[in-house]
Amino acid sequence: MSKISVDQDFCQAHGRCYARFPELFDADDEGRALTLDGGLVPDNIDAGEVVAVCPEAAITSA
Ligand code: F3S
Repeated sequence: MSKISVDQDFCQAHGRCYARFPELFDADDEGRALTLDGGLVPDNIDAGEVVAVCPEAAITSA
């Protein structure tokens, strides 16, 4: 199982992550992404796709 995180220094609140993967992300009051469940990505979701959804490269996976 992969783990993702959002670098708040890079997040510009584009919202693509929580639009595409609402099970993985929530938004704060300013529209910046917050990870749910500690950033754990279920095996049925490709973490590479999750990382690629952000145009600011704010999402990383480990
Ligand atoms: Fe932020 Fe990227 Fe999502 S800019 S809101 S992490 S698509």
